[in-house]
Amino acid sequence: MTCNVLLSSAGRRVALMESFRAALARTGLGGKIVATDASRASAAFHAADVGVVVPRCTTGKFIPAMLEVCAAYDISLVVPTIDTELSVLAAHRAAFAAIGVTVAVSDPETVAIGADKVLTHAWLVEHGLPTVRQADPEVVRRASDAWAYPLVVKPIRGSASIGVVVVDDALSLDVATRAGDCIVQTVAPGEEYTVDVFVDALGRVREAVPRRRLEVRGGEVSKGMTERIDDVESLARELGGLLPGAFGALNVQLFRDPTSGSLAVIEVNARFGGGYPLAEAAGAIFPQWLVEHASGVPLSPVSAAWRAGVVMLRYDDAVFVDASGAGL
Ligand SMILES: Nc1ncnc2c1ncn2[C@@H]1O[C@H](COP(=O)(O)OP(=O)(O)O)[C@@H](O)[C@H]1O
Ligand SMILES: [Mg+2]
Repeated sequence: MTCNVLLSSAGRRVALMESFRAALARTGLGGKIVATDASRASAAFHAADVGVVVPRCTTGKFIPAMLEVCAAYDISLVVPTIDTELSVLAAHRAAFAAIGVTVAVSDPETVAIGADKVLTHAWLVEHGLPTVRQADPEVVRRASDAWAYPLVVKPIRGSASIGVVVVDDALSLDVATRAGDCIVQTVAPGEEYTVDVFVDALGRVREAVPRRRLEVRGGEVSKGMTERIDDVESLARELGGLLPGAFGALNVQLFRDPTSGSLAVIEVNARFGGGYPLAEAAGAIFPQWLVEHASGVPLSPVSAAWRAGVVMLRYDDAVFVDASGAGL
């Protein structure tokens, strides 16, 4: 039995790709890694066994092209990596299933909750999960007494920290919200954690690995450390179990105030987080569970012993190719 894996919008996700490669070897399933991207000028495209250019996920040609790649390379598992492709892949899971392909994505409802920060907040509040206060900029302007600065402004459908700003007064709030489609939040106190959560096909949370953000570069964690911190872990587990039709790797961002112990979830991403390689280095095996699931074999047991105190120090690496190879 082989399990060919397609990493979608592969971009710079070479480390995640290597985790899938290692999982295929470890399980003895074997199989190739195919990377798709909108351009050949991507590192993971060249690190894969096969790279295929497909139309952007925002076009109607994306799904037919992906189905074609799956058929051509006998793919068993598709792994999405970027926010913008989640909803379209979630909506078309049945078409992939019809040709024997598992897409490692949650139900459209959970993808929608993660993609839209108004929906995220409403969902968190509805389920009694701790979060920050949040409102539409207009509401904040009208009830200025109820909102103490500094405040955080961010786009409703943002990602990679693009457009996230801290504002110190009403004037800055006006400037920051001028473009529209954004929300205002109170600043969450304390330290920021990202939790990699794995949910199985029956909606049961198998593992949650908290890692503390030590340093961020370009919206992505560049230094982090796994930490065994029970309240953070159990909150992420509860959240993963409540998300409707969640499946596979999720990424929950929250703050924890070390003095009061208060927690505040600020974001849910229904996909592998950019910093997942740290959880893997600490003993998590999410890619292995996905290839096992896609191959119809029982999932390997949970490693209760993922290691706390594992530090990730990221650095730049590069793939060198001919200009023609990069499509330039
Ligand atoms: N309410 C908040 N309080 C403190 N920091 C925040 C808050 N909201 C966002 N941030 C900071 O901004 C980063 C990006 O915000 P996030 O909600 O994750 O949006 P994105 O979808 O762009 O990743 C977070 O990782 C965090 O460091
Ligand atoms: Mg985020």
